[in-house]
Amino acid sequence: MSLTLWTNCRAATMQPDAAQPYGLIEQAALVVDGATLHWVGAEPELPAELRRRCTERHDAQGALVTPGLIDCHTHLVYGGDRAEEFELRLNGASYEEIARRGGGIASTVRATRQASAEELLRQSGARLRGLLAEGVTTLEIKSGYGLALAHERKALQVARALGQGHPVEVRTTFLGAHALPPEFAGAPDAYVDEVLRMLGLLHGEGLVDAVDAFCERIAFSPGQVERVFEAARQLGLPVKLHAEQLSDSAGAQLAARFGALSCDHLEWLSEAGAAAMAAAGSVAVLLPGAFYFLRETKLPPVEALRRHRVPIAVSTDCNPGTSPCTSLLLMLNMACTLFRLTPEEALAGVTRHAARALGLRDRGVLAAGMRADFVLWDVQRPAQLSYALGANPRLATVYRGALA
Ligand code: NIG
Ligand code: FE
Repeated sequence: MSLTLWTNCRAATMQPDAAQPYGLIEQAALVVDGATLHWVGAEPELPAELRRRCTERHDAQGALVTPGLIDCHTHLVYGGDRAEEFELRLNGASYEEIARRGGGIASTVRATRQASAEELLRQSGARLRGLLAEGVTTLEIKSGYGLALAHERKALQVARALGQGHPVEVRTTFLGAHALPPEFAGAPDAYVDEVLRMLGLLHGEGLVDAVDAFCERIAFSPGQVERVFEAARQLGLPVKLHAEQLSDSAGAQLAARFGALSCDHLEWLSEAGAAAMAAAGSVAVLLPGAFYFLRETKLPPVEALRRHRVPIAVSTDCNPGTSPCTSLLLMLNMACTLFRLTPEEALAGVTRHAARALGLRDRGVLAAGMRADFVLWDVQRPAQLSYALGANPRLATVYRGALA
């Protein structure tokens, strides 16, 4: 067994209930065994016998070490962009108006259908590399811009290929119920039938890790979402929901009934919705990029989430319409500045709680037995990661035990 030792660092382990904020260990040492953390602690406590067994050694030169960052909500795979709509909005149109006129998600659906798999891989790969440059080691990618079997399949295959071609683990989510495609205009229930058929087939092809839907006036009703969730349950797939983004449809309560991994956006979440999420153990995924980009004014009820002890995650929501963003560090800042999360809550939101939002129990904290995914940063204190705008103090990423 070959062990690798990392010393001369401070480690923000993000362990819950630790004595220090951020689970911070001064003068830390990490011992890596293959792709797994074998030992994490203060260097003076490292057993001499364990130190002797380390055949490879790294001096982290005083870096701060955090768990690898986890972006738990992205629509990273899509064709084209929506800069033109950005311009329209700046000339007075609203996001909902543009959507009703056949723009919005529908325009990205056209561009995504037109793009070949190779082209999608190229465009999405550039975005992925933006995230990786800031220390992302796990990310979720949703479909939902194909909205027809061949194109949903293409997007999910591209998502899988991105994971295979880069030092990152990609978790795929089927978001067939994202918008009504033009072929089904005026027939949402018939489209939901088609979503169920696509889900069965794509799951059979091993392309689906979880199922999401967009529950909103401009998208799918709670009754329609329920049918999708019922089908996911039959297949043993976990669910999550775009809930209460533009209005309160009690989507969180619906998702909670299905034991959802997460409910995401949540600007309009009610007290009852927060309580339901707490009871179900669902994570609240906050997406400050979309809030900012749409210039929303209704803040997600962070105080209620805290009171109900709902774990809070933070993510980019990387997508062309509401958050064309490939910086998770910028989201840390926005979560603090716009939503008033503390820097410690924000960092937990892209590590421990983001792992939970994906149903992953083997990462998100630095501890023995966890995956050896971690990032070395050129900062003194963890708050610097959420403090700076547009800085990237990443020194190195270790992915599954190896320097990426
Ligand atoms: O997460 N809310 C729904 N879906 C995306 C936006 C999709 C789009 O506008 O292209 C979101 O905000
Ligand atoms: Fe989204």
